[in-house]
Amino acid sequence: MAQPMVVAIDGPGGAGKGTIAREVAQRLGFHLLDSGAIYRLLALASLQQDIDADDSQALVDLAASLDIAFPTQGPHAGEVVLDDQVVSQAIRAETCGQRASQLAAHGDVRQALLERQRGFRQPPGLVADGRDMGTVVFFDAEVKIFLTASVEERALRRHKQLMEQGVSASLHDLLQDMQARDERDTQRASAPLKPAEDAVIIDTTAMAIDTVIQTVMTRVQSSASTNGDV
Ligand code: DC
Repeated sequence: MAQPMVVAIDGPGGAGKGTIAREVAQRLGFHLLDSGAIYRLLALASLQQDIDADDSQALVDLAASLDIAFPTQGPHAGEVVLDDQVVSQAIRAETCGQRASQLAAHGDVRQALLERQRGFRQPPGLVADGRDMGTVVFFDAEVKIFLTASVEERALRRHKQLMEQGVSASLHDLLQDMQARDERDTQRASAPLKPAEDAVIIDTTAMAIDTVIQTVMTRVQSSASTNGDV
């Protein structure tokens, strides 16, 4: 039987993946996987349990036992839940992002999270965002998008997002953190951040969000009509 359709959206932090993925999933009525949240949850749990960022065996064990949920209904709808605690805000902290990027460099940790991510591929379809959705996790995705933007623009967007949430942050520090994370995510040996060979690359630096969404929707529609999916 044919697998449910996957729209894979990869790219560096701050390129707009989350916003675009959420909107596209909503328009299509598809499920949504924010794979970065899974790495961030592992990061948060490892901090809470005082596990060293280089102790890959302890991290693999932790990944296997991680009790996480992304409820779509009920009192915690739309939140990220770890061990029955809402941690949606906590995992967005820059310390969690940096640590997630460190943990994500271990090949065996990535392997331990692979099936959990693939489990999100459920009918009628999935929009998945991250770093290796189109290259590894859903290498057979029908639509692969690679979103990018200049690092300065991405730092500005992250800054604006944090200000809107009432979190103060220095633009200079954000830019440095983002450069460090880009470096680690693209240089790691295991599933480095790079566009899949068959990905459509969209540079969003000077693009309005609506235009990006429309570009992605057009790719999905043309893929669906070729495959008779939607
Ligand atoms: O997308 P994000 O900023 O929430 O991701 C946090 C970190 O998790 C990112 O710096 C690298 C890692 N990550 C990954 O290696 N692979 C993914 N598919 C998603 C995130």
